[in-house]
Amino acid sequence: MLKATVAIVVGILCIILVTHIGVYHKTHTAVPPRPLSVNAIYERFSEHLIDSVNGDNIASNLRIITEEPHVAGTKANYRVAEKIAKLWKDAGLQDVHFIKYEVLLSYPDYNNPNHVTIFDAQERQIFKTSGVSPVIIQEEQGAPGAGIQWVAYSANGTAEGDVVYCHHGRVEDFKKLRTLGVSLEGKIALIRYSHGFRGDKVRFAQQYGAIGAILYSDPAEVAKNGISQSKIYPATEWMPEHGVQRGSIMRGDGDPLSPIYPSKPDLYPRRTIEDAKKLAILPSIPVLPISYSDAYEILKRMKGNNVPQEWQGGINVTYKLGPGLTSGKVRIDVNAKLEKREIKNIVGYIHGAEDPDHYVILGNHYDAWVYGSLDPNSGTATLAEVARAMVQTINETNWRPARTIMFCNWDGEEHGIIGSTEFTEEFLNILTNRAVIYLNVDTIYANQSFYASAMPTLYHIAVESAKKVPNPMKSERKRGRMTVYDTWIKRFPGKLASHPEFPELPAPGGGSDHVPFATFLGVP
Ligand SMILES: *[C@@H]1O[C@H](CO)[C@@H](O)[C@H](O)[C@H]1NC(C)=O
Ligand SMILES: *[C@@H]1O[C@H](CO)[C@@H](O)[C@H](O)[C@H]1NC(C)=O
Ligand SMILES: *[C@@H]1O[C@H](CO)[C@@H](O)[C@H](O)[C@H]1NC(C)=O
Ligand SMILES: *[C@@H]1O[C@H](CO)[C@@H](O)[C@H](O)[C@H]1NC(C)=O
Repeated sequence: MLKATVAIVVGILCIILVTHIGVYHKTHTAVPPRPLSVNAIYERFSEHLIDSVNGDNIASNLRIITEEPHVAGTKANYRVAEKIAKLWKDAGLQDVHFIKYEVLLSYPDYNNPNHVTIFDAQERQIFKTSGVSPVIIQEEQGAPGAGIQWVAYSANGTAEGDVVYCHHGRVEDFKKLRTLGVSLEGKIALIRYSHGFRGDKVRFAQQYGAIGAILYSDPAEVAKNGISQSKIYPATEWMPEHGVQRGSIMRGDGDPLSPIYPSKPDLYPRRTIEDAKKLAILPSIPVLPISYSDAYEILKRMKGNNVPQEWQGGINVTYKLGPGLTSGKVRIDVNAKLEKREIKNIVGYIHGAEDPDHYVILGNHYDAWVYGSLDPNSGTATLAEVARAMVQTINETNWRPARTIMFCNWDGEEHGIIGSTEFTEEFLNILTNRAVIYLNVDTIYANQSFYASAMPTLYHIAVESAKKVPNPMKSERKRGRMTVYDTWIKRFPGKLASHPEFPELPAPGGGSDHVPFATFLGVP
């Protein structure tokens, strides 16, 4: 508030000064002022735009859209969609509207969580996971269902048997198990997160004959400084002992039941759930994620040979391959359902002044596994403020974007990049011909470096833009790194000998809504 007042006062002073100089010139000048070059004009516009972005607005947007957990296809997420549409309309975006699809989503049974149970040789239960991670900070985790441990699209059901440790669950890991003489046939795969997409891990385990899979986060990946309280959340950002990674294990392109075409009700022939399972787009086995403290209970009881040295993780037991426990068995119970539900993308425009039929697209998703304050609403909150700042810049200068700027907020990303994929499938021809660039945000972390991945044709734009943005981190400015670019190149030096000014800029991989633009449409 104070800052705003100061800014207004400073602004008013500038206006007064400018007015006076104008008056002075009117009465005293003989020489007409030199016109600004086009570049200098654009420089002013871009400075005006950067100055118009207000961090307090981003904070307020974030609060508005993270009030409750909002998984795709739920009423809570529809409420978030309405709130974003309102933010955009208030900001002055034009033609804000929803584009809806009916897609296959997946949900846990909130009243009946998933469990791993360990039985002894007499079939007595000796350990059972709670299925719900405990609340550490009430305001951030306390909503009903927020702590439930699940992965989307798991089969519903039970699997009981011997456990085999499968390391990171990559093809080479399953091949290695085979050469070590350990079969996965009829077994439950215990697989570590990281080093690959969790959906692939499950698919490979299934191919090798697993009847169920347990995914867990190993301290070697998620608590690298140790698992004592001072080394994990909330003291640090490393995963707490009962933390569990959620995610999707669906391995398709968008809606699993409507390949290539948009999933509009009754519009195109569709794939069945059974077909999707046959193609391993949906898994056929029950799968659930657990914490490293629960994985410890399994690992400490396992028998078999020691794992290869590089397969040992960060839990304080010697990892064994299995199959099985020294005595007893493991059962997994997964309560899950598949449901066709409506998802809603949100689209709004700033229409271009010269070339309105070409689109510069700015996008992010808004659905989240829980509250989504980082993933993805840090990006969504920022994008809404960028929209507002652009309209303000148009209001206050004579800048008009040449092309149409299209703002998109996607739904169903967490389940499998569904909203953006269906959109690109529906508008394939228009977008292939007329989309100039797609910029995706997703998660923005505080106190880190800017980081980007891009097609090589966009390297210059990424670098030149980052050079214009003042560094928001005081600690970096103190070290003389005055722009976002300075921290970026310092933290992520590039590898191109011919262009030492480029920071590390890998080609975009998977995992967010740029995927259908880059790989289906070929839009950079
Ligand atoms: C190993 O870790 C578990 C779980 O964190 C803990 O309960 C146990 O005391 C540890 N054992 C040793 C020997 O450090
Ligand atoms: C899941 O399986 C259980 C039995 O294991 C059954 O009672 C339940 O109805 C199933 N749920 C769905 C959604 O199919
Ligand atoms: C832009 O100008 C319109 C009309 O004066 C005004 O209603 C709106 O609030 C302005 N928007 C921004 C973001 O400055
Ligand atoms: C970022 O750094 C500043 C200054 O060191 C600190 O005050 C702030 O708490 C940090 N924020 C986060 C989210 O870590």
